Amino acid sequence: MRTSAPAKTETLMKTIIEPFRIKTVEPIRMTTREYREEVLRRAGFNVFGIDAVDVLIDLLTDSGTGAMSSEQWAGIMRGDESYAGARSFHRFYDRVSAITGFEHILPTHQGRASERILFEITAGPGKVIPNNNHFDTTRANIEHSGAKAIDLVIDDARVFKSRHPFKGNMDIDKLELTFKKVGAESIPLVMLTVTNNSGGGQPVSLENMRAVRKLCDAHDTPFFLDACRFAENAYLIKKREEGYADKTVGEIVREMFDLADGATISAKKDGLANIGGVLLLRESELAQKARNLLILTEGFVTYGGLAGRDLEALAQGFEEVLQEDYLHYRLRSVEYLGENLLAGGVQIVEPPGGHAIYIDAKEFCPHIPAAGFPGQAVVCALYRHAGIRAVEIGSLMFGNGDSAPDMELVRLAVPRRVYTQSHLDYVIEAVLEVYSQRDKMKPLRVVESAPHLRHFTARLEEVE
Ligand code: F0G
Repeated sequence: MRTSAPAKTETLMKTIIEPFRIKTVEPIRMTTREYREEVLRRAGFNVFGIDAVDVLIDLLTDSGTGAMSSEQWAGIMRGDESYAGARSFHRFYDRVSAITGFEHILPTHQGRASERILFEITAGPGKVIPNNNHFDTTRANIEHSGAKAIDLVIDDARVFKSRHPFKGNMDIDKLELTFKKVGAESIPLVMLTVTNNSGGGQPVSLENMRAVRKLCDAHDTPFFLDACRFAENAYLIKKREEGYADKTVGEIVREMFDLADGATISAKKDGLANIGGVLLLRESELAQKARNLLILTEGFVTYGGLAGRDLEALAQGFEEVLQEDYLHYRLRSVEYLGENLLAGGVQIVEPPGGHAIYIDAKEFCPHIPAAGFPGQAVVCALYRHAGIRAVEIGSLMFGNGDSAPDMELVRLAVPRRVYTQSHLDYVIEAVLEVYSQRDKMKPLRVVESAPHLRHFTARLEEVE
């Protein structure tokens, strides 16, 4: 028997490598510029309308798009598909409970299902739910209940060049003011999204989480995490927050969850799986209400809309995501992408965050006004030039004709364990080439659009 390898990585080498080797490959198809031009036109200049087969590097999302490990695939074969009390549920439960310390752990099919259940039992008309920045589905589920979703992130979050290490932090003064203004009885819970996806994938410090917890305690209000990217947030705490360099990521994760009364998790991110979600609750009475709803729309409490094999993949994924070699490679590759774009003159949300790089589209093409959708123009240019699919987070997503959002962003989200450094070098080259020819980019106009969430289905055309 060989002895097991030391847990600590040799750090003498400067080159950071992907801490895995590749066992299965999925070919990607090279296409020509003429072909992509045709595809783009057919899709109405909306990349949601493009078939994945026509995309070379897909940076649309990091959600559910990761590669599973050989151990996860082995788990898929071991999946116990029993309706109630399956072995796979217990593996999932034990793993999540070991990481988070929660007793009430409900599996759901994905993050928004956890949100829907949580807000159905806590929100409703007249209620207000603060967050650093609500993700779209969180906001939509809160509003669907009749409540109001408000964003209280620190002002630094809106300054591209600010190098604040925790740009996901909540503005504590604004939170206090909100408590004063609307009254604690109108605030069923306060949330923090870690990392803050809508605000540039930026982390929240433990100091800030503790301050939110303290304020919540003073008002007897529960504190929840939207913890989709909890491991990435914890690793950034280890790297950036004083006093945490020598803690393990597992210890930091536990400290984060120990502060919370509950959490919603989309396991399609740091669960390292293609589907799945979790709802964590501390309080038994609330958990009982949540279980009743879970059974109503998701499935029995020991599978919650997932197959036994999915629960196996999650149990393994939640273990692998805490490996520091993995997190080091993961965060470093996103940082590498961001630093190289900055070095080439492209303004991004600084410093690079956890799962994605966000380009400042206003700066990228100053000749295109908000009404001409600068972010979408960059997205189209990247696809046309190099077959890369990014996503606009700006006037097309949030504007409704008369108001433009503060920031026009293009998100390059990096799927987990999928692309290598040479893929990222290709992306860097493509963005910089498009940037060097940016004066050729044309504004767009909407020719067909739906009343809600128009960015998914709108059709656009270029304005000559
Ligand atoms: N919360 C955050 C912070 C998210 O980023 C997402 C999903 C969700 C909740 C909802 O989870 O998709 O499993 O229902 N974000 C994906 C993205 C879709 O592309 O950023 P879900």
